[in-house]
Amino acid sequence: MEIREAQEKDFLELLELEKACFSCPYNEQQLNYEMYENPCSKIYVVLDDKKVVGYIDFWVTFDSATIARIAVNELYRNRGLAGDLLVKSEEILKQEHVEFYTLEVRKSNEAAIALYKKHGFALITIKHRYYENGEDALYMMKGEI
Ligand SMILES: CC(C)(COP(=O)(O)OP(=O)(O)OC[C@H]1O[C@@H](n2cnc3c(N)ncnc32)[C@H](O)[C@@H]1OP(=O)(O)O)[C@@H](O)C(=O)NCCC(=O)NCCS
Repeated sequence: MEIREAQEKDFLELLELEKACFSCPYNEQQLNYEMYENPCSKIYVVLDDKKVVGYIDFWVTFDSATIARIAVNELYRNRGLAGDLLVKSEEILKQEHVEFYTLEVRKSNEAAIALYKKHGFALITIKHRYYENGEDALYMMKGEI
């Protein structure tokens, strides 16, 4: 499995992953913004042969960063690929001297919460009714990346 920065040719596969993995997926316009316009965003993909099977989109602002998206194709889950993407993002953040890494995750998302805890993120607070359906978010942070 290879991890590399996202390229123009990955666009449609990323759109498909979004549709398959999220209840509120990025549409074309939003993904386009993330890939080409958002000055803070960095996107890395994980490939099986040449197929995009997972990705991370994280935003860097001065000394902190936040995970905007992380997703792995259902057929490739529980093999450590999301963990690999997280580790890759942290390598980039270290080079940029980023100190804090934050995220919001749905309270019901056990797989993602387990992933983040395993990689050293701690619960900071609960953001009540954060999501469009009224669900709470856990706000988590990792310092000293
Ligand atoms: C969350 C997600 C990215 C994890 O991807 P993954 O590649 O399966 O994650 P990993 O294999 O690196 O797993 C990391 C840890 O999470 C744990 N985990 C995975 N699925 C789990 C589940 N359903 N319940 C509890 N823990 C789970 C694993 O036990 C693993 O720890 P281990 O290696 O010690 O066993 C994936 O489930 C996904 O794409 N979900 C849909 C999109 C999403 O919810 N993204 C997060 C938004 S905040």
